Amino acid sequence: MSDRQLKLGFILHGVGPGWGDWRHPDANPRASTDIDFYLRQAKVAEAARFDFLFVADSVHITEKSSPHYLNRFEPLTILSALATHTRHIGLVGTLTVSYSEPYTVARQFASLDHISRGRAGWNVVTSWLSGSAENYGKPVHPPHEVRYRIAAEHLQTVRGLWDSYEDDALVHDKASGRFIDPGKLHALHHKGEFFSVRGPLNIARSPQGQPVIFQAGASEEGRNFAARHAEAIFTEGASFDGAKAYYDDIKARAAAFGRDPARLAVLPALRAIVGRTEQDAERLYGEAVGLVRVEDALVALARAFNEHDLSQYPLDGPFPDIAAHGAQSNRSTSERIVAAARAEQLTLRQAALRFASPRREFVGTGAQVADAIERWFDGGAADGFIFFETLPYQLEAFAAEVVPILQERGLFRREYEHATLRGNLGLAVPENRNTAARRRQAA
Ligand SMILES: Cc1cc2nc3c(=O)[nH]c(=O)nc-3n(C[C@H](O)[C@H](O)[C@H](O)COP(=O)(O)O)c2cc1C
Repeated sequence: MSDRQLKLGFILHGVGPGWGDWRHPDANPRASTDIDFYLRQAKVAEAARFDFLFVADSVHITEKSSPHYLNRFEPLTILSALATHTRHIGLVGTLTVSYSEPYTVARQFASLDHISRGRAGWNVVTSWLSGSAENYGKPVHPPHEVRYRIAAEHLQTVRGLWDSYEDDALVHDKASGRFIDPGKLHALHHKGEFFSVRGPLNIARSPQGQPVIFQAGASEEGRNFAARHAEAIFTEGASFDGAKAYYDDIKARAAAFGRDPARLAVLPALRAIVGRTEQDAERLYGEAVGLVRVEDALVALARAFNEHDLSQYPLDGPFPDIAAHGAQSNRSTSERIVAAARAEQLTLRQAALRFASPRREFVGTGAQVADAIERWFDGGAADGFIFFETLPYQLEAFAAEVVPILQERGLFRREYEHATLRGNLGLAVPENRNTAARRRQAA
């Protein structure tokens, strides 16, 4: 067995990430709000020893949003339900710093960590759709840079709140009547640019000490935020070279911030299509491509450009000059699209179809997909992956055809090593800052 092991997450995505996925003959069009659908997927992923389940989120829709976005569960709610039906798999939920209060967020994730006995993770996002502001009574959506300043202060506040109770603060001494040791309960007294929180938090420190921090920054600000604070990082990983460059960059930034880069997992998206034979995989790939309609691909493309209306441009004309709409939205993805369209002189139709169609990198038999995964892992482009189901039952196919090969090759666990997500990801429990301060004072 090599000692470096793959980390695998599975995104619970209901009817699927694409606009047309729900139309597949085997798709359950009600999957996004079907608890039984998620329970089945959670059990399959746990039996395959995945590190964690992941629930993405956003807080703004229009009638053109993708089917899953139109009708889906709030992440912490569905993860709490799944926590009581699973024992080992991590539970990672998305929550936006731009439209939430640190005190509430700290409570929610600490609660999930207690409910799951140490399996909670928070995907810290800043929200890139400006319409989100209108759902929270805010006059404007904060610009990109400001969102990352908010994120830094928000996260710092949440982490401070998670340390409100020292580990042995709850004494439960029936004889003396002391429920807590008040000296081991600490108010945060945070007053910053965006948040003011006195504390303490009204829930004890959770089994992982602190839930695991996930992030997916890709812009300059986003990368610095991720490299400084995240313990696992999602990235689109559009190609091996692109993923490798991102990986090297993030690890170098983390080292420059004084962190051990090995304690920071970089997880590109894995949209595998696994067939029993090569022909079977090709047939499945054709099915996935066949679900992409150009009008949906246009709407999908527009998302990175703050839902700018692309129907006003000629489909077969040159790619329009829309970069400015992306700069304050999903900056990095919009820049990647514009760069590719310019470099390859793509028409709007070609660009839309390109970015909405599944990639070919991980299409094949179980052995072929395992080979590609190994190439990325050994080649220093990934510490693991976040698996997206491109077609119905691909999770089952991956679990049956790919996972055993990865296990055989010593790349992936056969059994969970630890009881917590932190443990399985090879991350230490952070020391409570108040306990550390007491220790320093005593010394
Ligand atoms: C696999 C993956 C999952 C993501 N999930 C979410 C999500 O659930 N909600 C969200 O608002 N953004 C999500 N993002 C977007 C990132 O949070 C981030 O905004 C994006 O990568 C652009 O980077 P930037 O903010 O540095 O410009 C995700 C990105 C990736 C690669």
